[in-house]
Amino acid sequence: VDSELGDFEHYMLKEIFEQPQALENAMRGRLDEDEATAKFGGLNLSAQQLRKIDRIVLTACGTSWHSGLVGEYLLEEFARIPTEVEYASELRYRNPPMSNSTMIFAITQSGETADTLAAMRECKRKGHPTLAICNVVGSTIAREADGGIYLHAGQEVGVASTKAFTSQVMVLIQLALFLGRMRHLSHPAGQRIIDALHQVPDQIRKCLECNDQVKDIALKYSNFNNFLYLGRLYNFPGALEGALKLKEISYIHAEGYPAAEMKHGPIALVDEVTPSVFIVPRGQIYPKVMSNLEEVKARKGPVIAIACEGDDKIADIADDVIYVPDVDDFLQPLVTAIPLQLLSYHIALQRGCNVDRPRNLAKSVTVE
Ligand code: G6P
Repeated sequence: VDSELGDFEHYMLKEIFEQPQALENAMRGRLDEDEATAKFGGLNLSAQQLRKIDRIVLTACGTSWHSGLVGEYLLEEFARIPTEVEYASELRYRNPPMSNSTMIFAITQSGETADTLAAMRECKRKGHPTLAICNVVGSTIAREADGGIYLHAGQEVGVASTKAFTSQVMVLIQLALFLGRMRHLSHPAGQRIIDALHQVPDQIRKCLECNDQVKDIALKYSNFNNFLYLGRLYNFPGALEGALKLKEISYIHAEGYPAAEMKHGPIALVDEVTPSVFIVPRGQIYPKVMSNLEEVKARKGPVIAIACEGDDKIADIADDVIYVPDVDDFLQPLVTAIPLQLLSYHIALQRGCNVDRPRNLAKSVTVE
């Protein structure tokens, strides 16, 4: 039963460990091998309507906003549709110009977040096709949307979102594949994405093996009071999410930044007591991120690196390295999320924090 802890000490840890299964559930029945695309039962839009979409706005709060930022990168790369991600609390009052062919996706674990609901209602009022990417079946946002995609992640109890985040990213990858295949993406390119997706649950299982090592790293770093989280491209949203997880449950100040942008400000914070968590798996601009990392080391900043298996070089430069499987760039936010979640979990435990019920926060924010 979802609401039982079983062998786990906390819901957060249980939900982190449920991710291989959650990601399988998010894919089940949705990958069409023959057509090399994804398919969704509940979008309630015809292929003709979907082809007319020339812009997508994703709206969300908190962790769901971070998966939305991954979604922006995915939809622009695979479907070539101009996409923006908007904070729901801003979008509801901002009223930016949007053509009739703009499609809206509200991304929400609970389906009850007040700002997300209000932003969605504003968009509906103005006649946009408004869909939901949601976990809780029958929630207000799921019911009021014109259609949508469920995560099927199972109940998430921990206030800090974990399996809902990776499940949202998984749904967004499939959405980008689906819309891409209606437009620019070739059959072999679609097939490659599907092949890669099939490997994800096992890759996540592999990532979870780092738990004991991350616990040791947490012991070393739990007394620091400021952290930077740095990554580029698909790992920039990952950096934001890693920093948010640490803030939420350990009450440590953390900032997520695009690794190269830090030279315009955050690098001024770097010193012996300000660790940087670098998300630096191999990928398109690996050498660039490495040179950002070296800039931090040159200023005596401790570095925890999340890197690809087989990257021996990084062990000479970073203070601590957590290895994840080598995956395509667009899958990096999934595999790197695991050590980032575990790091915040173990640091929070070290500091005696209540990880499942952090102070001042609510699982679902139903007031404005
Ligand atoms: C709260 C939770 C976060 C969550 C955010 C959005 O702040 O503590 O974990 O990301 O709401 O929630 P939603 O249910 O809309 O995804």
